[in-house]
Amino acid sequence: MTTLLVTGGAGFIGSNLVRMIAHEGRYRVVVFDALTYAGNLENLDGCINGSLVSFVHGNILDRDLVRSTLEHHKVDSVIHLAAESHVDRSIDSAAPFIETNVRGTLELLEASRSCGISRFLHVSTDEVYGTLGAEDAPFTESTPLDPTSPYAASKAASDLLVTSFVRTHGINAVITRCSNNYGPFQFPEKFIPLMTLNAIEQRAMPIYGDGKQVRDWLHVDDHCRGLLLALEAGTSGEIYNLGGFAERVNMHVVHEILRLTKRDESLIEYVADRKAHDRRYSIDSRKAQQELGWMPSCTFEDGLRQTIAWYEDHPEWCSHVRSGEYRRFYESHYNTSL
Ligand code: NAD
Ligand code: TYD
Repeated sequence: MTTLLVTGGAGFIGSNLVRMIAHEGRYRVVVFDALTYAGNLENLDGCINGSLVSFVHGNILDRDLVRSTLEHHKVDSVIHLAAESHVDRSIDSAAPFIETNVRGTLELLEASRSCGISRFLHVSTDEVYGTLGAEDAPFTESTPLDPTSPYAASKAASDLLVTSFVRTHGINAVITRCSNNYGPFQFPEKFIPLMTLNAIEQRAMPIYGDGKQVRDWLHVDDHCRGLLLALEAGTSGEIYNLGGFAERVNMHVVHEILRLTKRDESLIEYVADRKAHDRRYSIDSRKAQQELGWMPSCTFEDGLRQTIAWYEDHPEWCSHVRSGEYRRFYESHYNTSL
């Protein structure tokens, strides 16, 4: 059976992907994760069993550990999700984004090359393309890179490194660029889980600027299906955009969350805008549809309803994440400190 290394597998998208792969049972998975503030082993509770899914606590900057993990577990393919992923944090401090997203990707590429990894899937973002006006055509894979935030710049740099390794060293790699994901297990610093938890807890819901920014929302399960298709059927050196077909204005999303949580508008609080706030993302996924046979199946309305229900049904996960208790899950299960 093929073995995959999933970096960042204890994060939001990574843990949903690992659950999906474990459920399908077609691959063996090694989760490789540094367990930063965004990594949470509770996301994989019941999933890590030592046979089909195992866990290595490690940093992608540690090339020796990455290499020994690839060798020890006889890894065939790498799905690279580990990253610093929050735009606001990159505005406060860009250095960790360069370390993990740029230098970490380089270390992973070097280790993968020296271990003869047969496939490398690099998970990137539509934010590398910059921002759109209301009437602009959606981003295609040939839209020029024009990142706004340090986060987006670090992801664009990592994409270029991956492409350079395909061209220079002949590694077999594919890049995906998706739009904003939402779904279970998302850390409540991102828009949808933050607004949902604040609504449930009757706390203020902070809207940046006028709240008229547009994001294209992709359910994490649809994204994960696209990742597996890209892994299995993508052409090396190619980029595939994965969008949600669900452009929504931020204020619309907030009103939907208020309606679904049965809260009123008094919770809305307009706050200072994010610096250089991208106005609109919109993504053209025709290439993934045509070449990978991928199409998202979840409507935004169904996905948001299910997502809010998930947060309402998992008060323990929410309270552990809010209180920082989730950091102790690793310590109690692995008898060591983070
Ligand atoms: P996340 O922040 O929830 O999880 C990131 C994971 O990476 C965490 O488990 C963290 O512990 C781990 N990690 C961070 N630094 C590490 C390091 N140096 N070594 C090993 N592990 C490390 O992120 P996410 O939302 O799941 O995003 C996953 C990937 O998808 C990222 O590459 C991100 O850029 C990309 N992406 C996310 C979205 C989105 O909407 N969430 C959209 C587009 C692209
Ligand atoms: P976010 O989830 O941070 O994703 P990204 O900036 O990478 O698209 O934010 C989504 C949108 O929601 C973005 O336009 C910023 C806005 N936003 C708020 O208005 N308030 C908030 O507290 C957050 C976290 C985001």
